Amino acid sequence: MPAAPRRRNIAGVTTTTAVVDTGLDRPPHRLARRIGWGSMTVLSLAVGAYAIFLVATGFRFVPASVSGNGFPTALGLRTHIAAAGLSLVAGPFQFLRPLRRRFPVAHHGIGAVYIVAALVGGTAAGLIALFTTGGTVAGVGFLAGAVAWLTCTIVALVAVKRRDFLAHQRWMIRSWAIAFGAVTLRLYLPGAMAAGFEFAQVYPYVAWLCWVPNLLVAQLFVRRARGAADF
Ligand code: HEM
Repeated sequence: MPAAPRRRNIAGVTTTTAVVDTGLDRPPHRLARRIGWGSMTVLSLAVGAYAIFLVATGFRFVPASVSGNGFPTALGLRTHIAAAGLSLVAGPFQFLRPLRRRFPVAHHGIGAVYIVAALVGGTAAGLIALFTTGGTVAGVGFLAGAVAWLTCTIVALVAVKRRDFLAHQRWMIRSWAIAFGAVTLRLYLPGAMAAGFEFAQVYPYVAWLCWVPNLLVAQLFVRRARGAADF
């Protein structure tokens, strides 16, 4: 029987494990993954840049529909925008395998920024959620999304502390899928309004649809990789 090949895990540690052929590394999958990563990154950076723009301009340009959020202090929404925006800018680079392998220190540094930003941004999102002007269904949708985002991020953090890199990677994919809800929300909302729906009509649905399908796609993705530590 041939010896099990040696490979490096995401921490850069060389291990001897059986390599699971997921098929994800073969062309045309590789090309599809690059296109997927590129599109995801452009969209994330665009929405992250939008959040940074709001911070840099003193929150003057926060849309009226959202600036009416009834949380007792504007600090809740502002903290959310600043921290969540940072997490959206940091996130995409964590999925770059060459960065993880060749520059593990960069992966750890950017990862720490993502985790702190997600924990602060998610906590603020949870606090302001029920104060949305969009009603209870929207509020509960955002609150559930915030709790799911925090849970996935904390479980991923605990996993990496225990050096369970596979679990860490999987929970981070789930965490990122929820963070990416900031992008899908900003695709669905204008899309629905362009189709003739009113903001108030669609907002409660979008508050759920922006993150639940993302999480389901992440789950399919994680399952498809059949136990390999790299995607
Ligand atoms: C991680 C990336 C995220 C970014 C960059 C982001 C950014 C923003 C921004 C800029 C606003 C102000 C509204 C606007 O200008 O469009 C906002 C509002 C809000 N976000 Fe996020 N967000 C992110 C993720 C999330 C997540 C995962 C949740 C929870 C599911 C969430 C919940 C909320 C809530 C509750 C509001 C206030 C909505 C209202 O009052 O109607 N955000 N976010």
